Amino acid sequence: MNPKIYLIVAADIKGGIGLGNKLAWDLPGDMKFFQKTTIHTENIQFRNMVIMGRKTWETIPEAHRPLKGRKNVVITKNKDYKVPKGVVLAHSLEEAMKSTDERVADIFIIGGASIYELVFKKSRIDGIYLTKVKKEFKCDRFFPKIPRAFAPERLGEGEDNGVRYEFFYYKKKKITRPARSTKATKRSKRRR
Ligand SMILES: NC(=O)c1ccc[n+]([C@@H]2O[C@H](COP(=O)([O-])OP(=O)(O)OC[C@H]3O[C@@H](n4cnc5c(N)ncnc54)[C@H](OP(=O)(O)O)[C@@H]3O)[C@@H](O)[C@H]2O)c1
Repeated sequence: MNPKIYLIVAADIKGGIGLGNKLAWDLPGDMKFFQKTTIHTENIQFRNMVIMGRKTWETIPEAHRPLKGRKNVVITKNKDYKVPKGVVLAHSLEEAMKSTDERVADIFIIGGASIYELVFKKSRIDGIYLTKVKKEFKCDRFFPKIPRAFAPERLGEGEDNGVRYEFFYYKKKKITRPARSTKATKRSKRRR
């Protein structure tokens, strides 16, 4: 199995993703999208792995963590950090990525800002699920700019509490190189 690596995030019109170690909004429809996307696997024998920073782990209410139906991996520098049984602790992004097992289908990087940044710098990314929240919120954490190597596809939209949002999937563009001309084609071009 060669898991694909996806990022999943919701960001406002200025790229804001959170404030005071919380989400800056309450959008149940987006939470449902997050749950469905990160749980889904083609084969029910497999499950996905979610990787998150220690602070994002702490934003999840205790009753809802670990995120069910997914292998949860928490990144921290703290070797003594305690997590419930079944949750994997990793002390670097590399260690987190290596926590896959034969039952892991795909990997979802679920935040926060510091982990997204790390992944953009250090890892292969196969795709990005971005919910564009169509409003500006006060935020102190931001999502990095998506590189031009990714092309957006609109998946749908929603609205909660008067806030509109749109779901996008950014797919890695295929790099098409111009065909290399052989000696023969170069010669025939010169004759023309
Ligand atoms: N809108 C969204 O989709 C979304 C998604 C996720 C999170 N968020 C928001 O984002 C905010 C949290 O983001 P954040 O950037 O402050 O925190 P974070 O990325 O969730 O966690 C940061 C922590 O991760 C650990 N860490 C980071 N880099 C590391 C490395 N190279 N090696 C080892 N450990 C490392 C450190 O833990 P230790 O300090 O324990 O060493 C660090 O303090 C919250 O407001 C949250 O609500 C929003």
